[in-house]
Amino acid sequence: MYRSHTNGELNISNVGQEVTLSGWVQKIRDKGFMIWVDLRDRYGITQLIFDADRTEEAIIEKAKTLGREFVVQVKGTVIERQSKNDKIPTGEIEILVSELELLNEAKLPPFTIEDETDGGEELRMKYRYLDIRRNPVKDSLIFRSKVTQEVRNFLSNEDFIEVETPYLIKSTPEGARDFVVPSRMNEGQFYALPQSPQTFKQLLMVGGMDKYFQIVKCFRDEDLRADRQPEFTQIDCEMAFVEQEDILSIFEGLTRHLLKKVNNVEIGDFPRMSFDHAMKTYGNDKPDIRFGMEFGELNEVAKHREFKIFDEAELVVGIAVPGGASYTRKEIDKLIAWVKRPQIGAFGMVYAKYNEDGTFKSSVDKFFNQEDLAAWAEKTGAKPGDLICVLSGPTNKVRAQLSALRMELAERLGLRKPNEFAPLWVVDFPLLEWDEETERYHAMHHPFTAPKPEDFALLDTDPAKVRANAYDLVLNGNEIGGGSIRIHDKETQALMFNHLGFTPEEAKEQFGFLLNAFEYGAPPHGGLAFGLDRLVAILAGKETIRDFIAFPKNNSGRDVMIDAPSQLDEAQLTELSLALNIKEKVESTEE
Ligand code: AMO
Repeated sequence: MYRSHTNGELNISNVGQEVTLSGWVQKIRDKGFMIWVDLRDRYGITQLIFDADRTEEAIIEKAKTLGREFVVQVKGTVIERQSKNDKIPTGEIEILVSELELLNEAKLPPFTIEDETDGGEELRMKYRYLDIRRNPVKDSLIFRSKVTQEVRNFLSNEDFIEVETPYLIKSTPEGARDFVVPSRMNEGQFYALPQSPQTFKQLLMVGGMDKYFQIVKCFRDEDLRADRQPEFTQIDCEMAFVEQEDILSIFEGLTRHLLKKVNNVEIGDFPRMSFDHAMKTYGNDKPDIRFGMEFGELNEVAKHREFKIFDEAELVVGIAVPGGASYTRKEIDKLIAWVKRPQIGAFGMVYAKYNEDGTFKSSVDKFFNQEDLAAWAEKTGAKPGDLICVLSGPTNKVRAQLSALRMELAERLGLRKPNEFAPLWVVDFPLLEWDEETERYHAMHHPFTAPKPEDFALLDTDPAKVRANAYDLVLNGNEIGGGSIRIHDKETQALMFNHLGFTPEEAKEQFGFLLNAFEYGAPPHGGLAFGLDRLVAILAGKETIRDFIAFPKNNSGRDVMIDAPSQLDEAQLTELSLALNIKEKVESTEE
């Protein structure tokens, strides 16, 4: 038996007991006649004591050879400590060691295994198994496990069945690029890894599975960000014989359950907001509603005052920054420089200080009088003491820019409190969005999403106006889930493919299996998928999902620990019928 107890559980009530412990050496303090060793495992730290008066000499000698991160097993007696440590649960006791067994030596770790480590990100990723020994990473993984367990509890209670769907499949259109896997047995042919199990979960509904869920890996070859990984996990769900309302209700219930069980926070009904309202009021379809700073559209009150920039802009829009009237010129210049950065791309920013005495001072006083500026204040909800920041330009662009500024200022002002939770549903998404590059419509969610029946007629006349039965779940400014009611009849699905620019042959080639299935009694159905990594990070008050994934990829999509992706050798390439292709490509680029 390697251990009778973990390193986190012994306390004053165990004094006198003989115990066996195993773990890693966290720290050694050698005072010559007395040696203390902190023994660590995932449960905590227990202090060991080797005392020249009470411990055999051979054991003391052995203890002197220990180093950081050595793996040891000890036997000993639990005794009360002389100087207690009230910061850890085991802080009142220590183990007077009577036997010491070295289970394994360890090289000196390349960074300290401490909460605040001296290791940089890249180094920690390379030695992720050591990083996982550190509390912040370990705790994040345990936290994630707790969330998934609660997800399973809730969904199982609601009669959902967990079904696994395949990974070696055919392209699923979720808007990213596919990762592909060559097939050895089918020369020149490739599987695609699922961007989501979308089509399979719909087929499960045709199969009568009624309420399905799966905690499942998805793969998307897209540019990475703090909230995006090339492989990530979804809590993927689908239900048959449901309307949008049924789905929102179940998954609002799940989110509430998690907030209660994991965060001990009770939340009432989630607000709902239309996509149009979110864009107009927050410039964004995933608004952080923990704070105000709502957009005030100023076209009415800012145009036709001979200020050319505003006159020529499609949209003039501002926000009130609480307490911002006290910003110095230098601070405001810095803000202006911030919005002008290429990542934001504004060409400038107009501002108006709403002074405590009720007067205004703006950067465009030449064009706007006090009355004009009072109208700006009214539209943006500014109060005396605030700063009104105004951007102008093409509607979509300027909304995105002001949204970025709103989030940045809220962050700086401490308004994005990590332990406050403000979920909401964003509903009534447009069904289609115009893609400038390909000059055609794309499905905003995916091509299986049903249009709202009342908008159906618009499909032929004004496709951009058609709204979808689609919804996103937003938590603290992050999209943590999304889904839709699906099309479940062959004709509508074919019509949809047609609108998306597929010829009937292309639709058949790519999705014939789904269209076929729809001919065998497909029930009305719908569902959604949560991004588990995001959900977990946000429940933990963070936004970087990497910290909640045991072995994440870096920003270039690499796993620096196992050094993947990597090249294949010639023999393997040949076996996969890839050698020729690659050689041809290299030769053609050399020409
Ligand atoms: P969607 O594409 O909106 O919907 O994905 C669902 C949720 O998955 C998360 N997510 C990601 N998380 C980390 N890294 C990524 N690269 C990444 N991409 C997406 C987001 C998102 O809300 N099949 C549909 C669901 C449905 O219609 O039922 C789908 O995949 O939190």
